[in-house]
Amino acid sequence: MSRHTAIKRVSAPEIRARKGGEPVVCLTAYTAPMAAILDDHCDLLLVGDSVGQVIHGLPNTVGVTLEMMILHGQAVMRGAEKAMVVVDMPFGSYEAGPEVAFANAARIMKETLCQAVKVESGPAVAATIRHLVDRGIPVMGHIGLRPQAVNVDGGFKAKGRSEAERARVLEEARAADEAGAFAIVVEGVAENLAEEITAAVKAPTIGIGASAACDGQILVTDDMLGLFEWTPKFVRRYADAKALVRDAVAAYAADVRARRFPAAAETYALRRPRVAGGEEPR
Ligand code: KIV
Repeated sequence: MSRHTAIKRVSAPEIRARKGGEPVVCLTAYTAPMAAILDDHCDLLLVGDSVGQVIHGLPNTVGVTLEMMILHGQAVMRGAEKAMVVVDMPFGSYEAGPEVAFANAARIMKETLCQAVKVESGPAVAATIRHLVDRGIPVMGHIGLRPQAVNVDGGFKAKGRSEAERARVLEEARAADEAGAFAIVVEGVAENLAEEITAAVKAPTIGIGASAACDGQILVTDDMLGLFEWTPKFVRRYADAKALVRDAVAAYAADVRARRFPAAAETYALRRPRVAGGEEPR
């Protein structure tokens, strides 16, 4: 594909301009074939650090590395052509300060060619968001339930249930917004808090377990496809892919054991040698 015929991807300013307009459709992606399927329907694909649990069988996102994010970011960029691709900065890659965050974010951008990074943000990370945005790296914030804080929180818990916590989440949102985040993921908060946050910030809010009050929605793709037994209350299952895979694998195993697979149509035959002056063998 020449640079003149390249299909234009959705950009950070285009997502930002959707504030209060048509809802922004987002899903997570980790592999090229799945990204290719999602690309026709989504505005934004997030290479989430949920890859740790979804693909690598980790208990949470804390063990996810920069190398894992880069590898999956490259795969998603190969699969999707139109949607904006955002790669999560993993735990430990941005908290030490703006300089470290810039070096790691720039590495993600250079090695994957993605268009933006996401950080789990609070007032402590606001200066880092500003530092990255000022140096050419669009940043998506992530507030409310922050999965990388699982060890501080003692689990994955909805946020904003007390007045003090509501004020803290609102402050996280304002800090990310004022620092220049082009969009803000709002996870695990009650509807009235999501409404208040969405009204308080200029960036579009992308909800996950944060009600329809947000400017867009995101889900972990494997959750909405039904690949996991347990999913949070806010996930709607659009398919039962686990049952589909289980039934297909059971049928394959039964066919192999009964010698029904492979059949003649799935088997290479020996080519008969051509007889001089004779017809082409079929
Ligand atoms: O890592 C992830 O998949 C995420 C989404 C849940 C927003 O951060």
